Amino acid sequence: ARIEKGGYDHFMLKEIHEQPDTIFDCLRGRLLAQSGQIMMSGVENHLDAFINAPRIIIVACGTSWHAGLVAEYLIEELCRIPVEVEYASEFRYRNPVVHKGDVIIAISQSGETADTLVALESAKENGAFIFGVVNAVGSSISRLSHAGAYTHSGPEIGVASTKAFTGQLAVLTMMALKIGFAKGTIDETRYQHLLVELEAVPEKVKEILKDTSAIERIAKKYKDASDFLFLGRGYNFPIALEGALKLKEISYIHAEGYPAAEMKHGPIALVDDQLPVVFVATKDSYYQKIVSNVQEIKARKGKVICVATAGDDVIPGMADDVMLVPDADEAIAPLLSVIPLQLLSYYVGLAKGLDVDKPRNLAKSVTVE
Ligand code: G6P
Repeated sequence: ARIEKGGYDHFMLKEIHEQPDTIFDCLRGRLLAQSGQIMMSGVENHLDAFINAPRIIIVACGTSWHAGLVAEYLIEELCRIPVEVEYASEFRYRNPVVHKGDVIIAISQSGETADTLVALESAKENGAFIFGVVNAVGSSISRLSHAGAYTHSGPEIGVASTKAFTGQLAVLTMMALKIGFAKGTIDETRYQHLLVELEAVPEKVKEILKDTSAIERIAKKYKDASDFLFLGRGYNFPIALEGALKLKEISYIHAEGYPAAEMKHGPIALVDDQLPVVFVATKDSYYQKIVSNVQEIKARKGKVICVATAGDDVIPGMADDVMLVPDADEAIAPLLSVIPLQLLSYYVGLAKGLDVDKPRNLAKSVTVE
């Protein structure tokens, strides 16, 4: 069984470590940074649908829904198209307003999630254009979509999604760049810069994975906590949600993800000297604000763990523990900042002696509602 797992103890760890390759495979042949091009035939063939879309609705569940939230930030910034991100289960039952011309992006690792599938069927009947961002080739959602882009992440066995998530982010980032460039809503310099930044992601992920001992140590230190709070802003807000979801799934520790500023409207009441608070605090346009939020938690004696940018000399002096990631443009940062959080949940689950590949009560793919 160890052979199947490529020498790793668990599929989850193997899949986390595959990410430099899976992200590379996703970008390969599509991202041509040298010539400033993105080749995605599914988008290319339907560019008008995207450019003229009055809005884009993203439909997904679970981790895929978090990828959708990152896409909301990307598409609104780079394409200036309003985006709504919907839980498939809510969207399908509330008689949503869908018009001809609306573009629906469905995100699904398995391509078989029942709620997502049914939500798409009815939107399709209403005349929406359905674009699938799917990992499983030939799956129901990919067949139902008018067009799509596969994430090429390979089979994902661990119940908690890891490499499929970064594959989704890579595809959605390329889509936003391609559409924004065609629409003329991205400044040319930023476009070029982001292509180069995206191309550099596999190497940077490799860098994070080279030495995970700090993360293992942090996991052991906090494994007996009863609750965790995960906070982030901007592009890293969905990553805070994803960090909390991963921890819940794998370690059964109660965890909540929140936008960092929103913590004042509730979660801050939970802060005491027992509560670990994980900040996704990489160097971006929200950095100063996150620094203030860290101070607010420290002033209430919370334990602060930060995902921070290598070379940052402020955060490490304030936080109890840090997990470093290489510097990146904020629109690309989620692809890096999620990696330490995947590892954190893995090592907490491991330290607790839990079955990280098959957590209790969870299914890899929820094909019944
Ligand atoms: C289940 C899995 C999650 C996944 C979600 C959506 O809950 O355990 O890892 O994110 O379904 O699945 P999908 O295949 O549609 O991405």
